[in-house]
Amino acid sequence: MATLSLNAITKSFGAAKVLHDISLAIKDKEFVVFVGPSGCGKSTLLRIIAGLEEATSGSVVIGGEDVSAAPPVERGISMVFQSYALYPHLSVYENIAFPLRVQKMGKAEMDARIQRAADILQLKDKLQLKPGQLSGGQRQRVAIGRSIVRNPKVFLFDEPLSNLDAALRGDMRVELSQLHRNLDATMVYVTHDQIEAMTMADRIVVLNGGRVEQFGTPMELYHHPKTKFVASFIGQPNMNLIPGTVLGVDPTGVKISMNGGHEMVLPVDSSTVSAGDKVEVGIRPEHVDIGTEGLEISVNVLERLGGVSITYGTIGDGTRFCASLPGDAAVKEGEPLTLSVAPEACHVFDGSGDVLRRNSAPEIID
Ligand SMILES: Nc1ncnc2c1ncn2[C@@H]1O[C@H](COP(=O)(O)OP(=O)(O)OP(=O)(O)O)[C@@H](O)[C@H]1O
Ligand SMILES: [Mg+2]
Repeated sequence: MATLSLNAITKSFGAAKVLHDISLAIKDKEFVVFVGPSGCGKSTLLRIIAGLEEATSGSVVIGGEDVSAAPPVERGISMVFQSYALYPHLSVYENIAFPLRVQKMGKAEMDARIQRAADILQLKDKLQLKPGQLSGGQRQRVAIGRSIVRNPKVFLFDEPLSNLDAALRGDMRVELSQLHRNLDATMVYVTHDQIEAMTMADRIVVLNGGRVEQFGTPMELYHHPKTKFVASFIGQPNMNLIPGTVLGVDPTGVKISMNGGHEMVLPVDSSTVSAGDKVEVGIRPEHVDIGTEGLEISVNVLERLGGVSITYGTIGDGTRFCASLPGDAAVKEGEPLTLSVAPEACHVFDGSGDVLRRNSAPEIID
């Protein structure tokens, strides 16, 4: 297995620059997820690692070796795509065997690798079936099997679960995490689904418009988003963002008047803002409680999910606000609600979307 370094990668298609100076150091055996909205360059970056696309500048180093000029087969990588592209007329066994037959591998070695992959992926009793006789999840496992038998240094996945229904995606998430543990392999996984990113990744790369917004562990991104973009991308339901104005700064924090009339002193670095500046206050739905003083919202829609009640409302000026409250919270649609907000749970973003550093940071659990 291997480390993977991307050094100052850029990519242009004609005049369109789609990747801007991307440098990442991925550790041996790490599971790294590239996440970001459609068109942000995730697949392009993965294809550059695979050698299916050439970078305009920069280098790709796998296991200490610069492979920028090497063709895909010589990079020690293996890629699994969204569409599993199995051969319908071949059995599961032959589909998995395909890349090894191309390599002209000996029969005994080949069979041993296929049996091991089938064992890991629980496909042992499916080896003689044709892809048409399998479920979507089983077909995707065959595609992963074809990848495993090649013993790659690095596994690359491009949205491998997006063709599956929600329940199966959940199961496959767990299976892929287990697979990562069993194989002890370096894996890079592309998705636009932040839940997949949060649940599977050792570290997440958040991409936006071809740039790395942040690279960190899931809980680092959750507690310490560096930008408004990362803050609103990570976490479900999304972080609330309330526009506000800086009233004044002092050494303990920044006094902010939020739209809707609520004022708070927030314990964030005050060195880069001054009175009158426009900011946004970020509050996660799960970081508020029903209280007697605080944010006043009027409740529009209540979703009782059992364990939690997702409460959608608006504050005075019409800004939307979502609160994730206990399942049996005493909340009614159409009624006003007061939510208490702990100042240390708030994030403050300046006019360009960068976070103001918090004075007391919550501890991060990995
Ligand atoms: N072969 C190509 N020629 C021209 N432009 C391309 C090509 N491939 C990708 N692009 C452009 O590069 C940008 C990034 O595309 P990419 O496929 O990497 O996005 P993505 O993050 O994988 O999106 P999605 O989540 O929709 O798969 C897009 O604007 C896309 O139109
Ligand atoms: Mg893509």
